[in-house]
Amino acid sequence: MSRPAQIRFLSGVAALYDPVVAALGFRGLWRRVADVASPAEGAHCLDVCTGTGGVAIALAARGANVIGLDLAPGMLARAEQKARRRGLESRVRFARMDARAIAFPEKSFDLVTCCMALHEMSDEERDAALSELARVARADVLVAEYRVPERGLAAFAFRLGHVFEYLESDDFRSFLQRGMEDRLAGAGLRIEERADAGAYRLWRCRAGR
Ligand SMILES: C[S@@+](CC[C@H](N)C(=O)[O-])C[C@H]1O[C@@H](n2cnc3c(N)ncnc32)[C@H](O)[C@@H]1O
Repeated sequence: MSRPAQIRFLSGVAALYDPVVAALGFRGLWRRVADVASPAEGAHCLDVCTGTGGVAIALAARGANVIGLDLAPGMLARAEQKARRRGLESRVRFARMDARAIAFPEKSFDLVTCCMALHEMSDEERDAALSELARVARADVLVAEYRVPERGLAAFAFRLGHVFEYLESDDFRSFLQRGMEDRLAGAGLRIEERADAGAYRLWRCRAGR
């Protein structure tokens, strides 16, 4: 599926997104991202590829001021609705923006997060987005992605579990071909902490080339 088609699709199914990803453990993952990030009260945060705002809202609930960006209008509308329901609309706002061209100056944010979006991008898009994350962060960048086992039975089981995604999508195949840590280093991010949350891994990195 092309990127514009994917964004249209996501916008159309935004109402179903949260129940589906809840079954995949995303609620716990969003909380874990906010726990590991542990932003200071009033910290300025950017959640890139925010989707329905799971991470952005979890950070705002901990007292941060957050902007969530995404390309899919339907997902952003859902995120705004959720923030209002939680009474957090003064702490979090959402904007339609491309992760590859973030319209903020360098070092604008204390914390930049990106949760479960990079595996859906092409190699080129992934590297462009990572370098934008590193550019707009003045301190921490926190990325969450699949915890991909590299060897043995676990690696085989992972690929079997994702066989549809793996066979259907060039993007997922290219995601598996290069480890996240190598990509983070390539974007000039220094890994300070790794944490696991079920099937997912979090990397807390320091920005600053
Ligand atoms: C699997 S969802 C993850 C959403 C959210 N971070 C979460 O944890 O639930 C991936 C999101 O990335 C967004 N996305 C993909 N490419 C993007 C881009 N280049 N710029 C901004 N958003 C993008 C999609 O619209 C989608 O909402």
